[in-house]
Amino acid sequence: MPRPATVSLHISANSAEVAQAAAELFTDAVISAIAIRGVARVAISGGSTPKAMFALLADPAHDFHTRIDWARLQLYWVDERCVPPTDSESNYHMTDCALLSKVPLPPANIHRMEGELDPAIAAARYESAIRNSFRLEGAQTPTFDLILLGMGDDGHTASLFPHTEGLENITDLVIPNHVPQKDTWRITLTSPVINQGRQVAFVIAGPEKAEVLAKVLLGPYTPFTFPSQLIRPASGKLTMLLDTAAAQNLPAGTTTIQLS
Ligand code: 6PG
Repeated sequence: MPRPATVSLHISANSAEVAQAAAELFTDAVISAIAIRGVARVAISGGSTPKAMFALLADPAHDFHTRIDWARLQLYWVDERCVPPTDSESNYHMTDCALLSKVPLPPANIHRMEGELDPAIAAARYESAIRNSFRLEGAQTPTFDLILLGMGDDGHTASLFPHTEGLENITDLVIPNHVPQKDTWRITLTSPVINQGRQVAFVIAGPEKAEVLAKVLLGPYTPFTFPSQLIRPASGKLTMLLDTAAAQNLPAGTTTIQLS
């Protein structure tokens, strides 16, 4: 049986306000981690939703980029498409355009998944990079301070897609995952790594997510169909930043949901 978890819902009026809430959550988590441990280790997702949040973090009109001590932020990816970093499909490319090219994050602090390599090699190299930067020993799992996730309209998160082999891998940290639905390979953190995060936050916006979100949160536990259901952090800190459109099929006024 899955670990029980409580999901805290933060529902905003629209996607722009979701991006604002995500930028605030990111900034607060980074500041808090640095204050406690001297470093913040954050893993971010790709797709379209995070783009607006990254733009806010980089925007001089906001104070996020001056509040963040970029030299003490170590940035990782949750997943990556198997394409070169210059490809428009690359999560790194999206992040570089929206954020990395506009803030003083030292290049050594940017831990890119090498999508241009053979998927198995890229996954192994990234796992090794994580083990080194977290100074892991044996079978230890890294503890990210914050892991930001999206959710597809099929219920996938990271690159853990429905009915794919990657869902069953709970021993590795980083894996190549073949996604037949997209006829492509991806590189992704595994669910145990995500569930080890001190704080895990989904950022989900748009009416096209409403139906699957209700199934993920309120339906039976069927994680091979809805992989987002795998995400139940051991810390118990699971947040969903939603807009009203994505949350429209949830009971009105819901602020927390107990996942049994
Ligand atoms: C990716 C992401 C993926 C994303 C979802 C939601 O590589 O695409 O990591 O898991 O979070 O597909 O994507 P949108 O935010 O674009 O809806």
